[in-house]
Order: sequence, then structure tokens, then C-alpha cells
Amino acid sequence: MPGRPVPSRRAVLRSAALTPVAGLGLAACSPGDDGAAPARPTAPVDLGADGALAQGETSLHRDQNVVVSRDADGVLKAFSTVCTHAGCPIGELEGTRLVCPCHGSEFDARTGEVLRAPATAPLIGLPVEVKQGRIIAGPGSGV
Ligand code: FES
Repeated sequence: MPGRPVPSRRAVLRSAALTPVAGLGLAACSPGDDGAAPARPTAPVDLGADGALAQGETSLHRDQNVVVSRDADGVLKAFSTVCTHAGCPIGELEGTRLVCPCHGSEFDARTGEVLRAPATAPLIGLPVEVKQGRIIAGPGSGV
């Protein structure tokens, strides 16, 4: 009875190299790939009602790749949440700390500053303002 063909060592290694590793939180990170998040909004984005963000609060808007916060003085700040390390969208906000799923960089959502490498550059700041009771961030928002 003939047995199954035994794959060569090279074939096994090639197969392993091409097999996606599931469950490790790895993702494609190259900006510019199809479907990759733009580094910042290309048009103004609506981040919700002005009254919904109290002083000292931070809000992550995953669909727009933007985080917005209001400091104790009521001043709004907004940042792109596309990681400055290799372009992964950051979808996790722990308190005021943004955590990149790709390589673990962390950023302060209130200032954009890097809290943990490998990223070295801060998040890109966005103009933000309140228009007709709505928080608007991105180009053309007028701030
Ligand atoms: S893309 Fe590498 S840490 Fe965010």
C-alpha cells in the first residue's frame, strides 16, 4: 500500500512562511495598501454633539480614525489615530491611552505624544472646532 508522498523540507518551510499566523494580533501595516487607513481625514468629520464630550473626557472614533478630547478648561484637541510607526489604525482606547494592535506602541490620546515605542513620532494633530453644536475635526473645519 503506497503511503502519502513526504514533502521536502523546503516545501514545509515555504508553506510555513506563507501561512498566516492567526490570533497574534498581527495585521498588515503598510500605509497605501488597498484598504489602509489614510494618515488623516481628507475632509471634515463629524465627531458628535458638542454636549456629549464633557471636560476631561476622551472619545475614540474608529470609523474616522480620530480621537478627540476636551481638557479641564474645555479646549478640544483631536488627533489622527493612524499609528505613526507603520500606519495601523489604532482601535483601542484604555482611559486616555491609545494602544496600537500591530506592534504595541502607545500614545497619549490628549496630547498625541508617544508613551511606548516602537513609534517615535507623535500622532498627527487635527484642527477641531464646534460648528452648530457638533464637534468637527479635519481639514476645512476652520480651526
Ligand atoms: S504600526 Fe507598529 S506600533 Fe503601530
